[in-house]
Amino acid sequence: MINRQIEPELLDVLPANDPRAIRSRRDLRRVNALMGNAGVIARAVLEASGGRPFRQVVDLGAGDGRFMLRLANRLWPAWPNVDLTLVDRRDIVSVETRRAFEALSWNARSVAADVFDWLSRRTDLRVDLVTANLFLHHFADPALRRLLELVSGRTNCFAACEPRRYPAALRASRWLGFVGCNAVTRHDAVASVRAGFDGPELSALWPGNGGWRLREEPVGWFSHRFVAQRLEGAK
Ligand SMILES: C[S@@+](CC[C@H](N)C(=O)[O-])C[C@H]1O[C@@H](n2cnc3c(N)ncnc32)[C@H](O)[C@@H]1O
Repeated sequence: MINRQIEPELLDVLPANDPRAIRSRRDLRRVNALMGNAGVIARAVLEASGGRPFRQVVDLGAGDGRFMLRLANRLWPAWPNVDLTLVDRRDIVSVETRRAFEALSWNARSVAADVFDWLSRRTDLRVDLVTANLFLHHFADPALRRLLELVSGRTNCFAACEPRRYPAALRASRWLGFVGCNAVTRHDAVASVRAGFDGPELSALWPGNGGWRLREEPVGWFSHRFVAQRLEGAK
């Protein structure tokens, strides 16, 4: 058992165009591939959608959008013509990434905003699915409770994949130098596992009105998945 510890991550404080940040975002794609996170979320949302493609999707803390592109490639062609909003404090979605979404017939727009501000402002927002990958672990419990409350008011389905907080993942995160990750990624990987999740921690923070089916579990070696789906007929 490792106690949850939240500390600042270097990628969040480095300027977006700092060469170490650019390299670390590239590393992050490799880390996501090693963790298998696109598959972890794809399986959950395909099951949740029950064969009816979701049309409106919001990804929180989307970074450069490349994780979502990987996920989109798994969901297409079952989910065509998705309207996608990528929300991140940084506006770092490249032209190539936007074109790759277009090629899948996904209409992707990026919004540079703090997710708390954006969700609070968008009281009219109602989407089929909200996703988050390697994002929730940035926040301490009170902020997370607030974020999940906002999310639950904007969608019927939320799926997140986060670092699994347990000793083997912590050990593995210290070895990322061997697959070529830079100092920023190595620092942030260890910090992310310490701030990750174990057991039903996110379920405990989800608003408790009983109208939701909650599933939370470790997946593979390094990932922790949380899925909240509104029960049929629940408000
Ligand atoms: C570890 S990265 C994950 C990026 C992406 N989801 C992925 O898997 O590649 C976390 C992202 O969260 C963003 N972020 C952190 N706090 C945020 C906030 N309060 N509002 C919006 N974005 C935030 C950072 O800018 C960063 O791009």
